[in-house]
Amino acid sequence: MSSIDRRKFTKLALAIGATAAWGDLFASPSDTRWRERRDLFPEGVASGDPDSNSVILWTRYPRDEKTSTADLQLEVAEDEEFQRVVAKSKTPVSNSSDWTCRVLVGGLKPARVYWYRFTDKEGNGSRIGRTITAPDDHDPRPVSFVFVSCQNANDGAQNAYRRMIFEDERAPEADRIGFVLHLGDFIYEIVWYPEDRPQGMYDRKIRDIVRYPDGEKIRDFHVPTTVEGYRAVYRAYLHDPDLQDARARWPFVNMWDNHEFSWLGWQSLQKFEGKTRPAQTRKVAANQAFFEFQPARMARPNGTSLENFNGPKVIDTPVTKFDDHGLGEEPNNLAAIGSLTGYRSIRWGSNVELFVTDQRSYRSEEPTGMEEAKPLLSDNFPSLMPQEAIEIMDAARTYNKGNPPPTIRSSDGHIEIPNIWKERPAQTVLGADQKAWFLDRLKNSKATWKIWGNTTATLDMRADPQNLPPGSGTPWPWSGYAGFVIQDWSTVYVERGEIYDFVRDHKITGFATVAGDRHSFWAGFASKSLPPTAFSPVGIAFVTGSISAPGLVEAFEHSLPKDHPLRVLYVGQGPADQSPQPTINMLLRHGAKSCLEYAKTGDIQKARALSNPDLSPHVSFVDMGGHGYSVVRATSGSLETEFVCIPRPVERSTREDGGPLNYRVRFRSPLWKPEQTPKLEVQIIEGNPRFSI
Ligand SMILES: [Fe+2]
Repeated sequence: MSSIDRRKFTKLALAIGATAAWGDLFASPSDTRWRERRDLFPEGVASGDPDSNSVILWTRYPRDEKTSTADLQLEVAEDEEFQRVVAKSKTPVSNSSDWTCRVLVGGLKPARVYWYRFTDKEGNGSRIGRTITAPDDHDPRPVSFVFVSCQNANDGAQNAYRRMIFEDERAPEADRIGFVLHLGDFIYEIVWYPEDRPQGMYDRKIRDIVRYPDGEKIRDFHVPTTVEGYRAVYRAYLHDPDLQDARARWPFVNMWDNHEFSWLGWQSLQKFEGKTRPAQTRKVAANQAFFEFQPARMARPNGTSLENFNGPKVIDTPVTKFDDHGLGEEPNNLAAIGSLTGYRSIRWGSNVELFVTDQRSYRSEEPTGMEEAKPLLSDNFPSLMPQEAIEIMDAARTYNKGNPPPTIRSSDGHIEIPNIWKERPAQTVLGADQKAWFLDRLKNSKATWKIWGNTTATLDMRADPQNLPPGSGTPWPWSGYAGFVIQDWSTVYVERGEIYDFVRDHKITGFATVAGDRHSFWAGFASKSLPPTAFSPVGIAFVTGSISAPGLVEAFEHSLPKDHPLRVLYVGQGPADQSPQPTINMLLRHGAKSCLEYAKTGDIQKARALSNPDLSPHVSFVDMGGHGYSVVRATSGSLETEFVCIPRPVERSTREDGGPLNYRVRFRSPLWKPEQTPKLEVQIIEGNPRFSI
């Protein structure tokens, strides 16, 4: 590496808050007296955001002394025995960053496995980590990666990681996973203490993983209020052995979703019990803890220190004025969300460019969750809202070519609410600046596959209660389809349409979305609209089941009254079934009539024969009860995505493979040309995902 490159590299390291290290040593055996002391590095090691010649390495080395700092020696080697050490560096840790450190190691070779470890003055060492650099931009080799989301150590086990490690260790070198894309809910800031819920959570018992030093109790759960609280929950999660082993085995690309800050949070605001409140100090605290615990190439405006976040001083101030793109103009809001910029793109060889976007920091207020929209919900149709009403709220003042109706009214006239959205700009998730960045990068990408790493799901999640025959509960009081109220891209029609139109207009091929948050497996097509409007896919889209957080099927099993007239649509039972079945999958894929038929006959074939072909041409697979992870393999000719589904992770498995599998299903999409329609071939490799297809 030339000295100019080094100067640039040092600047880059500083911008992301990392020490710089060089991988240009003549490979030689380690001269460090390293003996492993995992107890002194209780959160393990990690690596993040590799490119073709560099990667960020991380550890935590807590000291008792509250004011002092310590130095660690980092070694990076080409072998696990550290006989060929290629980079060494001293890195400081201090109390001010909770004893964490980040080192950006450059001068590495592309597409190579490296091993690394940290050692203190006395020779006490961290565990050994393994990381992998990306292939260089012209390298056409296949790229494999896993995408995951939503791990909850408070009420679930991380068996999915154990399975992932087990399979990868046994895979041929060329088929091994290159990195793990973590699409958020790495932590859940909402924590129950066991005494808060002696009855447990659905099928699970509550684990005593963390006690917030200065938490706030809301209803029966606790949330952090300071950086100490957010740090405490990261530390607690990293004490999970399966998660810690995964971080030590692969580089991670991390992006926050909502729970890294706040459950119903948007921009720097929180929402609890129906009330929005300013939380600029908590947003900065959340960003600081993310910065400290997730090695990532994220820009900080105050990037002047290697080891300190140096967040802005903000005051919790109500945000009342929003610009034409929904961004709150209040200075503390702008400072808080600007304290760490998460969206970025990373390239893996000639076949993959990954665009990771932030769905929380710049979004406008989500309309379906607002108090004013509550009358659109009804206990008769759990979680469903009329699509026509959601379209009015989403498009806001742009609805009907700028002529929004004064009220939102059901076809039977029984429900009518004022259209308070009619003066607002259309809903945005990305915000103006991030969207401009995303579209520009998409257009200019030279990679075969342009992969949108999206923390929230894009595929429409809708049902057809308008097709319920008379006599099956209360009639649906609206004329058309219903959308599930899950507050993701499913109901962001205008902005999602804008992105998909851009893809079509610029003849962008190989557009694939991988997403999390929905706690369910989905495979299908990116289309801006569905019948009765045009169905015109511009790409393929996937959603991964949660690692461990409970999904909708488990929630409905526990919360939907046993005598609910439409229980058959959610967790129905055939005549011979001993327990509830995930019929919500059938509702989403085939429609209400199929669910009724299944409840009557218990015959899935007969039920599928009544499929509503207009409901979900965009869905090839859906499992609202699945947990596990998803593996992508991208080549110059195709993209394959494999869902690896495990049983509900209620308890930690003691098996070395992490426990049994429910099913493994693979989707293959040949690369399409402009003007061609993307296709997905479905192949069930093992198990039987009965209601999902
Ligand atoms: Fe989640």
